[in-house]
Amino acid sequence: MFSKLFGSKKEKITEAYNGQPLVDDFSFLGADMHSHFIPGIDDGAQTVEDSIALLQRMQELGYRKIVTTPHIKVDHYPNTPASIMGGLELVKQAMPMYGINMHVHAAAEYFIDDYFLGLIDTQPLLTVRENEVLVEISFMFEPFNLGEILFKLRNSGYQPIMAHPERYMYYHHDLDKYRELKDRGCYLQLNLNSLTGYYGKPVKQVAEKLLEKGMYDYCGSDMHHIKHADVLNSIRSRQETMALLQSHPFRNTLI
Ligand SMILES: [Fe+2]
Repeated sequence: MFSKLFGSKKEKITEAYNGQPLVDDFSFLGADMHSHFIPGIDDGAQTVEDSIALLQRMQELGYRKIVTTPHIKVDHYPNTPASIMGGLELVKQAMPMYGINMHVHAAAEYFIDDYFLGLIDTQPLLTVRENEVLVEISFMFEPFNLGEILFKLRNSGYQPIMAHPERYMYYHHDLDKYRELKDRGCYLQLNLNSLTGYYGKPVKQVAEKLLEKGMYDYCGSDMHHIKHADVLNSIRSRQETMALLQSHPFRNTLI
């Protein structure tokens, strides 16, 4: 696919399609908007030291701003704005001691279920940017009431961002499902590591197709641990992938 887009693999790509010089890090995005850096409240960083180590890697990868997004999933990670913002303060206090000078904020990755449906009515949701809320759905099946929940979210003034749609394998047989998600008002967020095959070949292939078709609005690291940082770092040496990413107008630059 890439050879079709870029001609010979040997061809030297010196500029991205938007006319900017190609860079070999993620500084062209400015911000990352999906990660798990608040210590001890989900399956990401477990200690402040973990958080700092991951933030150091993000800084080395070229990011200048982070909106970290702990899971809110009532059965596993019953987080609240208070637990998230309390943890964010601990991280921010430690950052200067380790030379981290990125802007670090927090929102959440909300799991769509009946508990989330109730939250829409009872409390302001944490947003990645303005009214934009990061949501995820089950990896096993599409929620039967997804349409109802997305409708209610939008009716309540929120803009949903669907996390890593390429990872929902029950959509793989029919790529029109992704168009339907967009028609239902969702922004789509690519996990960058999906492009490496980290989540498997089918996920990689769907991510490439959606990226090629210009379907993604955001991209994120979804970083939980150092292994994810290593995989993300490996993308930097893949010139064609970097050029494709840099040619795409991701909304990350608006954060
Ligand atoms: Fe996540």
